[in-house]
Amino acid sequence: MQLIDTFTTHRLFAECLQSKHLNELYRMHQNKQVMATLGGVRSDEETRLFILNNLNHWQRYGFGLWVFRDKVNNQFVGRAGLRNTDVEGNEQVELAYALTAKFWGRGLATEMGEEILKIGFELLNLPEIVCFILTNNKASQRVMEKLGFKYERDIIHANLPHLLYRLIV
Ligand SMILES: CC(C)(COP(=O)(O)OP(=O)(O)OC[C@H]1O[C@@H](n2cnc3c(N)ncnc32)[C@H](O)[C@@H]1OP(=O)(O)O)[C@@H](O)C(=O)NCCC(=O)NCCS
Repeated sequence: MQLIDTFTTHRLFAECLQSKHLNELYRMHQNKQVMATLGGVRSDEETRLFILNNLNHWQRYGFGLWVFRDKVNNQFVGRAGLRNTDVEGNEQVELAYALTAKFWGRGLATEMGEEILKIGFELLNLPEIVCFILTNNKASQRVMEKLGFKYERDIIHANLPHLLYRLIV
């Protein structure tokens, strides 16, 4: 399978998340505002493990997370991509995204999501993609709506009440 290492969106450049991104990811994972809806801040060690898991995921499934940079000044914007996950005993693929707070509110999560969905459906031929969102994460729920996902049901995920969204081609 051909891995999609890099791609661009209108305003962003994406590359496969790797160990060289440790410091940028660590900074974002230490930010309370960003991590409030992602299970809380992560230590350096947890971030190392996060990267290692992502690299293993790329090897095993041929897709995973990318790091996104602003095309204009090369600034780190965030991470997003596709991950295999367990939904009540069934393997599913989820869309995941997190942006550093200074880039919020510019439509960038939606822009990342649009391109990732194209990759998921058109190149990887996935039949459907899901997303879990904390019940109080209104911004992410709006991103889901803009990307065409439909709310399916309430679900407990990572021991917390989440909303399950799904997009079927
Ligand atoms: C959620 C997140 C990815 C959104 O990123 P973003 O780039 O700001 O998203 P977009 O600009 O594409 O869209 C956000 C939408 O939510 C809306 N929104 C933001 N805060 C909102 C709130 N409190 N209530 C309702 N809508 C809200 C915005 O107005 C926008 O909608 P619009 O385009 O119709 O005006 C970003 O806040 C983030 O990284 N949060 C931390 C990590 C996280 O929660 N990840 C998702 C886990 S499921």
